[in-house]
This record gives sequence, structure tokens and C-alpha cells, in this order.
Amino acid sequence: MIFCKRVMGILHRWIWGDVQRRAHKLLRFGEIETDGGRDILRAAELTEDPLLRRLYLVHAIDEYRHGEMFRRRGSELMRTIPAGLNPAFQANWLAPSGHGVDDLRVEDEPDEALLAFLHLAEKSAAGRFTVYRDVLPDDPPTRAIFEEILHDETFHMNYTFTQLARVSPERHRRRLWRARLSRLWKGYLRLATGLAGLFGALILTIQYFVLLPPFAWLAKRAARREAPGWTAVPRNDSLKTQY
Ligand SMILES: [Fe+2]
Ligand SMILES: [Fe+2]
Repeated sequence: MIFCKRVMGILHRWIWGDVQRRAHKLLRFGEIETDGGRDILRAAELTEDPLLRRLYLVHAIDEYRHGEMFRRRGSELMRTIPAGLNPAFQANWLAPSGHGVDDLRVEDEPDEALLAFLHLAEKSAAGRFTVYRDVLPDDPPTRAIFEEILHDETFHMNYTFTQLARVSPERHRRRLWRARLSRLWKGYLRLATGLAGLFGALILTIQYFVLLPPFAWLAKRAARREAPGWTAVPRNDSLKTQY
């Protein structure tokens, strides 16, 4: 477990150490937080529970604010990057934002399902943001943003669990397990897509260096055998055919 934590620490230090990648990640997190806020605002419109409506509204406002904070910091960092630099590898599947990625169709889900989903998403976000905050000792402004957002995510994680237990006292554990399995499946799909992309790039690179050279050599040899200049072809005077 300690070894695993250490490896994750090294990995995330590498991911967040590159300023360009950090800037892109923050901009992407900004979009995800705002998207999440939009979904929760929609949930506030749809719910018939007045307490949940109030809490969803507070939550949506928090997520919009997080989006704004991430975007502002991402833009500040972008301005420090020299123009013309090649885009860094983003490693999005290794360092996701923690929530909002697993899109939920708010219209199709009852409050219990939404609360279970939100509880797990916020818990995951709180865990990830703790790691991201800890690997950024050299960037106090970004670290402070993670610190502040982490505080809100902890509140979101707690209120969603309390409300889930209130609206579904009998089945809230089952709801959480179902949401957990769904997130696990989506996580597997994300990992598989990321690995498929890496393997695809590797195989295409190998093909480029192993399969193309013999064809290039054959094409050059055939070109050398061709007589230089124009080649005369027999003239066809027939009016019935073109050749
Ligand atoms: Fe958030
Ligand atoms: Fe949140």
C-alpha cells in the first residue's frame, strides 16, 4: 500500500511537474467542473424535494466557481508558456479530474441514483485533489486552489451521503454499490481506451520503421530501371477508340 502510494506520488509529480501539461489539465478541469455544475442545476430544476433543490443549487454554484478558478489559473499558466512549444502528453486517463467525467443522464435518474453517483464522484474528486495538492509544493497559487476546492468537495461528499440516507433509508447501501459498479465499469473502459491508444501508436510506429523501408527500397530500384525523360508510345489514329 505504501509502495503503491509512493509510485502514485512519483507518477503525479511527473504529470503535474510540466507547466504546459498543468495548464492544459487545469483548463480541462475547469470545463468538467462547469459541466458538472450544469447537470446539478438541471437536477435542481427536476427534483420535487425542496431541501434537495436548495442543496443542489448551492452545489451547482460551487461547481461553477470551481470551473472559474481552474480556468483562471490555467489561463495564467498558459501565458507563461513560450509560444510554439509542442503540446505535452496529457495523460488524462492517469490523472482524471475525479468527477463529471462519467456523464450521468440527470433526466432519467431518480434522486437516490443521482445522490449515490454524486457521493462517489465527490469522494473520488476529494481523493484526487488531495494528491494533486500534495504534488504541487512549488506552485502555491495552484495548490491553494486545490486546497479551497477540496474543502467544498468534502462538503458535497458529506451532504450527498446524508441526503441519500434520508430519501432512501432502506436501500441507500444497495444504491451506492450499484453506482460503484457502474463507475468501475466506466473506469475500466477509460483505461482500456487509453491503453488501446498507446498500443495503436506503438504498433503504427513499428510498422512505419519495419514495413515501409522495403517498399521504399523497391520503389527506388524500380525508378532506377526506368529510362529517363519521355517514353514514346505507338500512335493510334483510330476514330473509334481513344487508345
Ligand atoms: Fe467541484
Ligand atoms: Fe463537487
